[in-house]
Amino acid sequence: MSATLISNVGELVTNEGGSFASMDDAALVIEDGAVAWTGPAANAPAADEVVDADGRAVLPGFVDSHAHLVFGGERSAEFVARMAGRPYRAGGILTTVRATRAADDGTLRANLARLAAEMLAQGTTTFECKSGYGLTVRDEARSLALAAEVTAEVTYLGAHVVAPEFANDVSAYVDLVCGEMLRACAPHARWVDVFCEDGAFGAAEAAAILAAGQAAGLSARVHANQLGPGPGVRVAAAAGAAAADHCTYLTNADVDAIVSAGMVATLLPGAEFSTRHPYPEARRLLDAGATVALATDCNPGSSFTSSMPFCIALAVREMRMTTEEAVWSATAGGARALRRSDIGQLTPGSRADLILLDAPSHAYLAYRPGVPLITAVWQAGCLV
Ligand code: NIG
Ligand code: FE
Repeated sequence: MSATLISNVGELVTNEGGSFASMDDAALVIEDGAVAWTGPAANAPAADEVVDADGRAVLPGFVDSHAHLVFGGERSAEFVARMAGRPYRAGGILTTVRATRAADDGTLRANLARLAAEMLAQGTTTFECKSGYGLTVRDEARSLALAAEVTAEVTYLGAHVVAPEFANDVSAYVDLVCGEMLRACAPHARWVDVFCEDGAFGAAEAAAILAAGQAAGLSARVHANQLGPGPGVRVAAAAGAAAADHCTYLTNADVDAIVSAGMVATLLPGAEFSTRHPYPEARRLLDAGATVALATDCNPGSSFTSSMPFCIALAVREMRMTTEEAVWSATAGGARALRRSDIGQLTPGSRADLILLDAPSHAYLAYRPGVPLITAVWQAGCLV
């Protein structure tokens, strides 16, 4: 069993104790893929290998709890049109459904691998990945099988929108999602998700889809209140979902439901950046006592960024989160959204997923937006 000491850490973000926490002039020991020790640099134990952080910051790896990475094609023309004044519509999803169905496994796998590598290079050591661009039994199941090759956090999103073949019979599509499609998909997935929104699925349909997924052993998470006010958050809370994601348009009752259900509100500011919707009201949620996560929503339509540092910068500048809150939400908050207690923090026993910044503090992630500051990444104790 060999131990690695990271010494001379200017700021070590540990997230010890349930909120942002850090130590200056610190050190950390990795052993057997886990954090074995943290403390003042002056007290660091001997180790087989020493990495000198040279006064720079070490943080937990980012936990991106919401991404759609299995898809074919791209939709830059839609983005260009939006920036010229056209609105975002959920219907654009079908453009990607066509391209995904037409793509062979090798093409989808290569695209997924490229995005996963992008994420890792930007400090994301755990990411969630959804299906949702297949919308047939075969294409949803193969999307999930591909996702499971690159992450353990796989989400069945057969209920992304109604498949075009079922445009005139939504209830038959819901039956498929809850029946044959679910049976083919559940073995590959940990989570079930539904896009509860006008133009996608209503409250009763969403509740039925979540219940069917739960009966098949999946845990719930929901795309809720993204494009306008609606029932998504309350459906998620009633289902005992781990997280309600987007939360862009919330009533006071929605905020209360999030807090009293103990559900994570996952904010995805890359989507508001790219759709010109207003940013979610992070302060309102935080001040009400909600647990907030930040994630990328990486997908070719509404948010084609794989960068957690970019989302942190948006959350700080546009949503008035403090730099500490934003970093906590992008690490420990994401872990809570995935119901994981082994990641998102650097405390003894945690998985040794950590990043070294080319900067003296976490604040530089927002202070120097757009600058590649991640200089080293360890995943389960291995330098990658
Ligand atoms: O989370 N809201 C639904 N799904 C994605 C958008 C997908 C797309 O436009 O392709 C989202 O924003
Ligand atoms: Fe999404």
